[in-house]
Amino acid sequence: MSDDIVPFTPQSSLVQCFLNSPETGWLSVSIAPQPFELRGIISPYVRGFIPWAEDKSAPSRAFAKVIESELRLGRQIEAGQTVVDLGASPGSWSYVAVKRGAHVIAIDRSELREDLMRSPRLSFETADAFKYKPPQTVDWLICDVIAAPQRSIDLLLEWLRERRMRHFIVTIKFKGADEYPLLEQLKQHAPPLCADFRLTRLCANKNEVCAFGSIL
Ligand SMILES: C[S@@+](CC[C@H](N)C(=O)[O-])C[C@H]1O[C@@H](n2cnc3c(N)ncnc32)[C@H](O)[C@@H]1O
Repeated sequence: MSDDIVPFTPQSSLVQCFLNSPETGWLSVSIAPQPFELRGIISPYVRGFIPWAEDKSAPSRAFAKVIESELRLGRQIEAGQTVVDLGASPGSWSYVAVKRGAHVIAIDRSELREDLMRSPRLSFETADAFKYKPPQTVDWLICDVIAAPQRSIDLLLEWLRERRMRHFIVTIKFKGADEYPLLEQLKQHAPPLCADFRLTRLCANKNEVCAFGSIL
């Protein structure tokens, strides 16, 4: 045994094996209590990759971000739930919620696709996403607004602190890598307010990350 190989007992360790050919593979060993603390980062998907959802009827491919967040969360928007969609136009995120039978309050400066605007399950308000407050707690905040990352981070923290929603999916969009450290505030302040908090660059994300989860 070389100096850098640490002995372990299988009972107190997490052992993972990935075979990349019949003869070779990778073995990963974590000593307890790391397996418990880090279990959230172990993906049930092969190589952590979730294929982009396909739906040609959606207004744009942006709907794939909601589907992927729901899959990762293990929870989805359900019939009868209330959803606030901030920065909703042209309507792909609202499209998913309406299709599931939820009631959607869609906020944007521009209207959504015509069929969504006519949906009895959707009410549209021309408003500033950063000023909108729901009259009561909603089941979901979904937010894909184009804004500076600090504004989206502040918006999410405000909604969490004021417990305005039960579950959330919020995109944080970046112009450059120098903005990534802004996420540290979210990593510090959001988890204590949440029963489940994830911050991930989705397979369906470009230069953006998605914060999603459920409040306490
Ligand atoms: C990336 S698009 C949203 C796409 C949408 N999630 C979908 O699936 O179709 C961003 C939207 O944010 C809206 N937006 C940007 N700033 C806003 C603000 N302050 N208030 C409301 N909407 C805003 C834009 O008008 C734009 O429609």
